[in-house]
Amino acid sequence: MSVRLETKYLNKFVSPEMLAAIQPQITAADRTLREGTGAGSDFRGWIDLPVQYDKEEFARIKMAAERIRKSCDVFIAIGIGGSYLGARAAIEFVRSPLYNSLKKDTPDIYFAGNGINSAYLNELLSLCEGRDVCINVISKSGTTTEPAVAFRVFRALLEQKYGEEEAVKRIFVTTDKARGKLKELADEKGYETFVVPDDIGGRYSVLTAVGLLPIAVAGIDIDAMMEGAAAARAAYTDPDLSRNDCYRYAAIRNLLYRGGKTSEIMVTYDPALALFNEWWKQLYGESEGKDGKGLFPASVVFSTDLHSLGQYIQQGLRNIFETVIDVRSDASPFVIPEDPANIDGMNYIAGKTMHEVNYNAFLATVLSHTDGGVPNMVLELDGRSAYDFGYLVYFFELACGISGYTLGVNPFDQPGVEGYKNNMYALLGKPGAEHEKRRAELKSRIN
Ligand code: PA5
Repeated sequence: MSVRLETKYLNKFVSPEMLAAIQPQITAADRTLREGTGAGSDFRGWIDLPVQYDKEEFARIKMAAERIRKSCDVFIAIGIGGSYLGARAAIEFVRSPLYNSLKKDTPDIYFAGNGINSAYLNELLSLCEGRDVCINVISKSGTTTEPAVAFRVFRALLEQKYGEEEAVKRIFVTTDKARGKLKELADEKGYETFVVPDDIGGRYSVLTAVGLLPIAVAGIDIDAMMEGAAAARAAYTDPDLSRNDCYRYAAIRNLLYRGGKTSEIMVTYDPALALFNEWWKQLYGESEGKDGKGLFPASVVFSTDLHSLGQYIQQGLRNIFETVIDVRSDASPFVIPEDPANIDGMNYIAGKTMHEVNYNAFLATVLSHTDGGVPNMVLELDGRSAYDFGYLVYFFELACGISGYTLGVNPFDQPGVEGYKNNMYALLGKPGAEHEKRRAELKSRIN
């Protein structure tokens, strides 16, 4: 097992009796999820994905990644939300947050279409000057504004740079197997396409082509990633909380929520997990935040944020708890040097590795925050391998399904996301009677 749940710091907050009391609800959530009797049951394809994925497409992903690695210096992954966060999280987690700046034999990887900003787009375009470029546009619906705009720009760049015929070889499309404008365009132009399965929603899709192609381009072993996810799938089949760390995590967060701890802060002491936390926030925020309910998912990178948010966590509003991901192995040890003059008085930590010091920062903080009334649970993670990533992704996806059903929401829809989109279409002048009507109403409120 790559992940172990340590609950010894929770003793003051969650008792064995509380866990026993919630067990029937967890067992019921497990049944609802596994038997597909709950809301959103059409979107459970991720449950068996680690052992039932399209092997032909998987092989094509690896071949495409190989071609991309050979033919470009810059790879642009275009997508937003679930069509963006997982791939970026994986690359930073397994390789490094400094991936693009490190010496490597794989292309630089940039992300576009994950926001709306002129300067960012202009800067990305200038980074492509004089360099060979490939792009992968990723959109399940094929209609999302942000990636559609970015794709328009980068497609034009490639066609201008290489001509239509060569550009086709450098454009990869990941979208629905049959529907949407993007699929139509890909078919018309002859781009190589990969499929976002019908039964897997965006935020559960990192282990499909959505995440796997950019991840493979970064030189990460996607076989090992799927093996990690498959191992997690096999590990968490028994709903008994005393034997299932994944379900225990889901149970504990529901118990804490019911006790008024309505915000969960995902804590890492490793900057390589900062984007993983962003992925986790989307997974839990979109899955649980609905019907006037849901834990608010937040994240911090310590020790950095101990010097910004640490004060609030220690003494602010007592509606928070923390889940710490403690990465146990130190892949690249750095020993703190001795200074003969000891001018800074720091020789007492000379000879220790940064990892040891960081571990002590973790212990110190867990004890201090617990004293401050903040429940802490710890997920001990073996390391930052592709296998560990796959394992941890599956752990959180499964826990999210169980937690969402325990909370009483549909963990697989996101109806609230449409609100801003519809207003934006209206304000930007999208044609159609419905948009025009909304435009008039919105303008009366703005002016
Ligand atoms: O999880 C989700 O469903 C969303 O975050 C989507 O991934 C996001 O809105 C992008 O959608 P699409 O892939 O259709 O462009």
